[in-house]
Amino acid sequence: ELMKVFITRRIPQEGMKILTAAGVCEVSQWDSDEPVPRTELLRGVQGAQGLLCLLTDKIDAEVLDAAGPNLKVISTMSVGFDHLAVDEIKKRGIRVGYTPDVLTDATAELTMALLLATARRIPEGVEEVKNGGWSSWKPLWLCGPGLSGSTVGIIGLGRIGMAIAQRLMPFGVKRLLYSGRTAKAHAAEVNGEFVPMETLVSESDFIVVTCSLTPETQGLCNKAFFSKMKKTAVFINSSRGAVVNQEDLYEALSSGQIAAAGLDVTTPEPLPTSHPLLTLKNCVVLPHIGSAENSTRGVMSALAARNLLGGLQGSDMPSELSF
Ligand code: GLV
Ligand code: GLV
Repeated sequence: ELMKVFITRRIPQEGMKILTAAGVCEVSQWDSDEPVPRTELLRGVQGAQGLLCLLTDKIDAEVLDAAGPNLKVISTMSVGFDHLAVDEIKKRGIRVGYTPDVLTDATAELTMALLLATARRIPEGVEEVKNGGWSSWKPLWLCGPGLSGSTVGIIGLGRIGMAIAQRLMPFGVKRLLYSGRTAKAHAAEVNGEFVPMETLVSESDFIVVTCSLTPETQGLCNKAFFSKMKKTAVFINSSRGAVVNQEDLYEALSSGQIAAAGLDVTTPEPLPTSHPLLTLKNCVVLPHIGSAENSTRGVMSALAARNLLGGLQGSDMPSELSF
């Protein structure tokens, strides 16, 4: 008998092909590029043994209850898993797959692009060219901080943090600081110095947030945090929006407490077009495109499909979350 699987969105064909070829599941899908409405999600999961979801789907007790006792595996096509109620999932003995590693390079590249764009004011410059603000080459115009000789602090020196650190080295960064619960052996590869959070915040010219969202990191970047930063420093976040208190960030940016911010993630997503952060020239906001590199999404969908199959068949999952 075929196992019932629900997929919450249209996903790249790579993943779909793997599921079809396996011939063990009957797939139903929210066949759209837009998120599945909650009621459709609750209906779609009924009786499912497998669920393939995205970071936009909140998988909580209500969804798990709607699915019922047959649900064996949840496979999210993302490296982040803060949208999954892991305690509830664990309690029910459901296995979880996610997609680390395959999006590390793409996300590190995007973070570098965002950092350079924010520091060197690229969106502002593009805008000036279009609106006639470019009157001449001007010695004092559109200047911003450079990486050469700078101190960069990375909050969350995991897979993505390390890939960013490696990309920063050839730019001539002088010191690379990182903070977190424990020092990491792999930090030596990038001459990373393990320092208290306070030191990282107050000594960095650039702060890059790449940690996962947990109760510990929720709201970590708040008023106290921004007030300890250098006035000339640039803040970059490519992890999850909720690590930042956005009202405090707005205050810090608009009052000149910090120089600029580049965000690939916000709360909520999408950020309403009327949001105060979008009125600021020194804030660059991207629509959560860290992994949006041509081949990466296909590879993510393939890994999510393999994780799902492993969970359905009670065998190894290539990337199973241990929790
Ligand atoms: C992107 O944010 C992901 O978690 O994959
Ligand atoms: C810049 O274009 C310069 O020539 O200094």
